[in-house]
Amino acid sequence: MTELKLRSRDWFGRKGKDGLIYRAWMKNQGVPAHQFEGKPVIGICNTWSELTPCNGHLRELAASVKHGIYEAGGFPVEFPVLSLGETLMKPTAMLYRNLASMDVEESIRANPLDGVVLLCGCDKTTPSLVMGACSVDLPSIVVSGGPMLTGKYKGADIGTSDVWRFSEASRSGTMNMEDLEMAEAGMCRSNGSCAVMGTASTMACMVESLGLSLPHNAAIPAADSRRKVLAHLSGMRIVEMVKEDLKLSNILTKKAFENAIMVNAAISGSTNFVIHLLAIAGRIGVDLSLEDFDLLAKIPLMVNLQPSGRYFMEDLYYAGGLPAVLQELRKELHTDCITVNGRTIGENAAKGVCYNREVISTLSDPFNPISGVIVLKGNVCEDGAVMKPACASASLMQHVGKAVVFENIEDYKARIDDPDLEVDKDSVLVLKNVGPKGYPGMPEVGNMGIPKKLLAEGVTDMVRISDGRMSGTAFGTVVLHVSPESAAGGTLGIIQNGDVIVLDVANRSLNVQLSEEEINQRKENKATAIEHTDRGYVRLYVDHVQQAHLGADLDILRGKSGSAILRDSH
Ligand code: FES
Ligand code: MG
Repeated sequence: MTELKLRSRDWFGRKGKDGLIYRAWMKNQGVPAHQFEGKPVIGICNTWSELTPCNGHLRELAASVKHGIYEAGGFPVEFPVLSLGETLMKPTAMLYRNLASMDVEESIRANPLDGVVLLCGCDKTTPSLVMGACSVDLPSIVVSGGPMLTGKYKGADIGTSDVWRFSEASRSGTMNMEDLEMAEAGMCRSNGSCAVMGTASTMACMVESLGLSLPHNAAIPAADSRRKVLAHLSGMRIVEMVKEDLKLSNILTKKAFENAIMVNAAISGSTNFVIHLLAIAGRIGVDLSLEDFDLLAKIPLMVNLQPSGRYFMEDLYYAGGLPAVLQELRKELHTDCITVNGRTIGENAAKGVCYNREVISTLSDPFNPISGVIVLKGNVCEDGAVMKPACASASLMQHVGKAVVFENIEDYKARIDDPDLEVDKDSVLVLKNVGPKGYPGMPEVGNMGIPKKLLAEGVTDMVRISDGRMSGTAFGTVVLHVSPESAAGGTLGIIQNGDVIVLDVANRSLNVQLSEEEINQRKENKATAIEHTDRGYVRLYVDHVQQAHLGADLDILRGKSGSAILRDSH
């Protein structure tokens, strides 16, 4: 066998003082020289953290990855990176996605690594790892933590989407505290990420459809022993990928992104998919635009999972997992895209088998002919806004209503249940200052709850518009990611109570009935001071974050610097 040109040899293969330092300090962990010298060194980039409960089992999974790496003749080194816990971090985990990606990028490049296994799960942990890894572009493979088992409550199946239902039920008085506590106890009853097609599962499907993971990575439950087998096999495979020099940029072509967009429509993935995929494309250097998400995704809803449908991730796996979806979509996909296992996505899809048509439909007889992401344009959102039609009400797709405006989320919380709030079922709720710069960090508050007095009347959905995001587990006729955002001078910022808003989904438009003159006049009179902090990461973020239609990455992070290091450390 010809000797591999390994990047790590520039450390461990050195003669003299430097080589002595590099090798001697590795040996303090009880590693004999033969175990790492001359072998592919594989980093296991781990987002394990007890503050990211969805990733709390990733050290166990890393052990399985290590077994696989050793078995294939590599040397594994596990390292931690900033882990983003969706549920606990304030003001929003999204504020730190780009920071985590910087940690990942620099940690990979600065160290003696030949390839990387990316261990992730909870929402932002997946894009932050993929974004950072793309900017280095070594051979890399993703292993997701897998979804939780389906939640249980009073004999019924529950999941994260029920958080919204239960909280509306408790606000309207139809669910008492005791029941709420029982639901809380049965909601997250195993390791893993949210059990519905929320953002975490959407991201796991995204990496599988991009070709960045082994088949079935998306859906095997965290608690299923086959998740560990997949981790083991991924560890074996990354060693081969290093030998083949199969890098991220070989896999992440424009066609691969188009495949991911089509699959996202078939599964009715989270709207967060849009923002993260745009950011990943920006890192690897693929030209992707917001419009692509609407134009390319004429794919119906084929997966009957909450929040668009009925079932849970566990059911998706038992029904055949993502390969069964890919198999059904084969005629639509770019089947020649290469994936991490060295085979094409078409070859992987050919092995997919559906065991349950209640959960995965055929392409010709789908659960809902409308799915994917709709991209709206108009004077409210010159650079675009998005909505998820499979989660919206058909009766609101064509809607004219008067704006009820909230200046920020605190204003919304203070007034939404005020019995004197002038609002009816046709009103359009408008929330400002929850965009990337305005909040800052673009929190998941776009699916504002409906006013209590309308809930009591039986209203279950209203048109809601904001420059924020919404949880992938949420639903409703919710227009999100309005760009430019209100805090960056967007028209959203000058909308007032009573202005008439026209949503026309068929024509992909969202407008406020105001003349250009009036809009400009109001913009001139509007003070646009963003006051957050004068130092640290948040300052860097606010100064450099791009608008939602570009993926909300920092402008200074777009693109890649590769894996070369120009200077030595000693
Ligand atoms: Fe972590 Fe849903 S909160 S995956
Ligand atoms: Mg979320």
